[in-house]
Amino acid sequence: MTQFWSWYITALTVGSLLALTWLIFATRKGQRSDTTDETVGHSFDGIEEYDNPLPKWWFMLFVATLIFGVGYLALYPGLGNWRGVLPGYSYLDTENKTPFATEAHLPEEERKGGWTGVHEWEKEMLRADAEYGPIFQKYASMPLEEVAADEQAMKIGARLFTNYCTVCHATSAKGGYGFPNLTDNDWLWGGEPETIKKTIMEGRQAAMPAHQDMLSEAEIRNVAGYVRSLSGLSDEETDPKNLDLAAGQEVFGARCAICHGNDAKGNQGMGAPNLADKVWLYGFEFAQIQQTIRYGRNGKMPAQKDLLGNDKVHLLAAYVYSLSQKPAEE
Ligand code: HEC
Ligand code: HEC
Repeated sequence: MTQFWSWYITALTVGSLLALTWLIFATRKGQRSDTTDETVGHSFDGIEEYDNPLPKWWFMLFVATLIFGVGYLALYPGLGNWRGVLPGYSYLDTENKTPFATEAHLPEEERKGGWTGVHEWEKEMLRADAEYGPIFQKYASMPLEEVAADEQAMKIGARLFTNYCTVCHATSAKGGYGFPNLTDNDWLWGGEPETIKKTIMEGRQAAMPAHQDMLSEAEIRNVAGYVRSLSGLSDEETDPKNLDLAAGQEVFGARCAICHGNDAKGNQGMGAPNLADKVWLYGFEFAQIQQTIRYGRNGKMPAQKDLLGNDKVHLLAAYVYSLSQKPAEE
């Protein structure tokens, strides 16, 4: 912030404080000190106002806020060059990621004096790491199945999941359109504990190619109908025009089986879903499946290793694994 704005704000703040102080005392002067039944004379929709003095508690509250304002300005940096009387404790050594007790440890040019909110988040994380790090480490050295059976670990895992995963996979972990359900023991990339961990650590990028330039409209409809028929969904009544499931099967064998398998049961090596079950990531409607085939899909699970690190991911992997081990609920 330039000097000008700093002084501009200072003038506004101090000016308002002085003006408000004047206002409360000046208006008090003209007031009567006793209570009365007289009204001030005006009436709004039949509501009148007694000509009574300001209640004492109200006046005191106003004065208290003024004192608070002055105190606040004295404690924190902000006014002009004023650094505030609060000590500038706990600075961050950004290089070694450790907190300093005082700014005296900072390099000369970084000493600002006064309290600062800079690096508060980093410091918070350091404190949390110091407190929880050893607990995370303990679990990180245990096999995932064992962690998944540990009640305390699963409580921590659930909290981590709420913080980092629910934006996409939902609070229930049941996902939604484009975001897979993690509780159903039906896996795009594999449900072995170590595979789940790899998914979370490294992330996953699915690539279902667009087929609009490779297939005719009729072929897209036929193969979409064929895919739906594999899970018992029928289009022949709803869309009998030009729908030829045998031709669709042929297209499937030529174009789709390489990724989804001849039996259409998918390939977890590349995240190609099982198309013969009732679990759909992008919907089972005839139009939705055509959309997938025509334009392709590119679901992306973001890698977490840099953000969360091995120990937290270990707990999360165990937690996700534990979700799929519970008996399925409807
Ligand atoms: C190069 C490999 C590849 C080929 C070829 C391919 N797919 Fe896919 N398909 C995928 C992948 C990977 C996904 C998952 C996309 C995602 O998760 O975003 C997918 C997803 C789908 C889905 C969505 C499933 C759901 O649960 O919503 C359908 C339907 C589908 N493919 C049908 C087909 C059909 C039909 C063909 C042939 C015309 C085909 N795919 C060809 C790899 C492929
Ligand atoms: C930005 C959204 C997003 C966030 C945040 C996210 N995910 Fe995902 N995740 C996805 C998407 C999209 C997929 C599906 C990728 C695909 O289409 O193959 C996925 C897939 C997965 C899978 C693989 C499921 C399977 O069937 O194989 C697991 C496990 C998973 N996520 C766990 C997590 C965990 C644990 C977290 C929290 C650390 C998390 N995800 C955070 C979007 C997200």
